[in-house]
This record gives sequence, structure tokens and C-alpha cells, in this order.
Amino acid sequence: MIDIKQVRNDFPMLHGKQMQGCDLIYFDNAATTFKPNAVRDAIDYYYTDMTCNAHRGDYDLSYRVDSAYEGARTKIARFLHAQSKEIVFTSGASESLNLVAWGYRRKFVREGDIVLTSESEHASCVLPWMHVCQENGAILSFMKLDAHGRIDVEALKQMMSEKVKVIALAMITNVLGHEAPIKEICALAHAYGAIVVVDGAQSVPHMPINVTELDCDFLAFSGHKMCGPTGIGVLYGKYALLDAMEPLTFGGGSNARYDMCGNILLKNPPFKFESGTPNIEGVLGLGAAVDYLDAIGMEQIHAYELELHRYIIEALLKMDNIIVYNADAQSAIITFNVKGVFAQDGATYFNAHGIAVRSGLHCAKLLLDFLDTSATIRASLYFYNTKEEADRFLDVCAKANMQSCLDVYF
Ligand code: ALA
Repeated sequence: MIDIKQVRNDFPMLHGKQMQGCDLIYFDNAATTFKPNAVRDAIDYYYTDMTCNAHRGDYDLSYRVDSAYEGARTKIARFLHAQSKEIVFTSGASESLNLVAWGYRRKFVREGDIVLTSESEHASCVLPWMHVCQENGAILSFMKLDAHGRIDVEALKQMMSEKVKVIALAMITNVLGHEAPIKEICALAHAYGAIVVVDGAQSVPHMPINVTELDCDFLAFSGHKMCGPTGIGVLYGKYALLDAMEPLTFGGGSNARYDMCGNILLKNPPFKFESGTPNIEGVLGLGAAVDYLDAIGMEQIHAYELELHRYIIEALLKMDNIIVYNADAQSAIITFNVKGVFAQDGATYFNAHGIAVRSGLHCAKLLLDFLDTSATIRASLYFYNTKEEADRFLDVCAKANMQSCLDVYF
């Protein structure tokens, strides 16, 4: 059980914040999350008591930073059931996904090869592969979705062949919030010699993840969606694949030596991917975020969010004025519209009641044809949201209509 009172005490953003004269309700957690004091303290400690570069100094202070930095890598590896050498620090899920596409393409994706993704993916999961396929003469194809917008695994089986080299998809999609059967898809892909690149941006913050059990080849996620700082992310990769990949950036820290004849000897993964002074405060902050989530328990977080989600969905389904696009999502992402109201006007109406939700295309522009709408409103929950907030949100939903949404402009 989550001690919600204790949890909320840990987040300064959950106290005394107002929007439009109302107590703030933050339901935009799929975009980014609030940060607990422990994360702020870890960053503050680095700047107040431990400032120096990482992996570069030969003095005590720098050893302390090296040890904290690598300690964070070890924590993250444990959190995912991976090995430390399989954890690469990046700026976020987008960079992680680009790193795989660009690092992998020269050796592994050739003319005529097929990369599979889906219409329900975030742009960061689709566009790197679209670009790589255009450069390499490979084919980007889209997995079929079922009537709910989930990956149709039976149809995927029919699409598989030795030509398929990569399947890139989210474990939880950022608009429909469906959970893909990653373990099953990995087994299928591996039977054909393909790899699976998982966008974990909306799953890693919310549920227990075991990459060894899933047997995924890569997993990308961002720190800021899981209580960590912005500008830090992770690429998990199986070591042999990381070893075979090329880095996106070259510079200090990632090479063992180079000479004037053009010979470059890169370090082993993960260091060959981490050129330049790293985002030290980001890594330490993410390490603190992982400690914080671990102490609450990812099972508890997942169960709590699903219960709150179900509570809201059941109420929304009874409202004639609300269209819900993903009532059966297996995550706390609620995508909806107010009948007859453009999504952005709907979000403005929620804003007028102190409720932060996202509207628009949510970086998943291919999905709108599937949903047959021009835009949606998305409410996304985290473990610090409460039933009281849900009730206030539902009350505002119940009163939403063309007139009330228009009234907020006058
Ligand atoms: N990718 C983030 C979202 O889905 C920003 O909102």
C-alpha cells in the first residue's frame, strides 16, 4: 500500500500551488513528473559539496564523483535487472532511440531490409528509423493494430520474415496507454534474427521492468518522467549489441587512444557512447529517483495507478458528454475529448479549473487517422495523484460542454 500522505509530503510541487485561482491538479505526468526532495537534495549535494568533473581527475574529490556516478549506473542496472556495462547515459529516451537507429544501421540494416513499427508510436520511436530506412534503402512498415489500437500479434506473425531486422515499439504507448506483449514479440523477432527496440518512456516509470526476462535487445527511457531531472536518459542494450554499434558522438572520454593516421580506438561500452563531460547532476538525480521509486516499490506504484485509473474510467464512461478513446488501457493514461469541443479548448477549460492536462497530437501524429479525430485531451496520472483529485477532475468533466468550454474565454 502506498502511504499517499507521506508520498505527497516529499514533493514541493504538490503543496500550495495554484492555477487560475484553484489548487493545482497535475494530470500531465506522461509529459513530465514532479521531483521529490530526495532528487533535489542529490543535485544540491553535488553542487554544494562535491563539484568536479567525472572520470577525469586524480584527486579524492573526483574519485567521490566517479564513485557516485558509477554507483547511479549500478542502481539503474539493478532496477532493470541488467548489468552496469549495459547502461548508457543519454539526454533522454529520444536520444537513446536515435542512438540505436544510427548506431545500428550501417552494419545491420541494409537495402531491402524491413524495420517494423506502428502507427501508435511516439515520433521518437518512428522518425529515427524512417530516416535510417530512407538513407539505407530499407523499408519501414507498420504493424497492424487491432480495433482498440493494440499491436495485433497474429498479424505481426504474418509480417515476419528473415528480411525483418528491427521491431521498434513502445512497451506502453503514450496516447492510448496500451501495454504491448514485449516478451512474446521479442521471442517472435529473435526466431527470425530481428532485434526489438523498446521505447520504455511510459513504462519504466510506472511498473517493474526486468529486461532479462523480457529479453528485449534495447530499452530507452527518460529520467524526467520518473521523478528524475530533465536532460538525462538511459539506453539499456545487450552488451554484444552495444559493442557492435557505432557511437553518435566522438570526443573526450569515449576513446582509449587515436593517432594522426586516423586510427581511433574506442573504449568498451557503455563509455564509448559517453563523449564529453557527462550530465553529472542528471545522473546523480536519476540515481536518487530510482532509490526513491524502489523504496516505495514499483509493484505498489503500478497497482495504485491502475486502481485510480479504473476509478476515473468507470465514471467517465457514464458521462454522455465525454468520448474516451482508450477505456481498456493497461496504464494510467486517459485519452478523451469533450463532445463537440476541440481538444485545445477542452484543455483550456480544464486549465481554468486548475487542472493541467495535455491536448493535441502528443507527438504521435500517425495515430489520429486511426482515432478519426484531429486532436485529443490526455490526462496522465502518477502515484502521487489522489482519489480526491480524481473526484474534482470528474466533477469538472461532468460539467464540460460546448458552452462551458467557450465561457472560459470570456
Ligand atoms: N513524450 C512526452 C509526452 O508524451 C512529452 O507527453
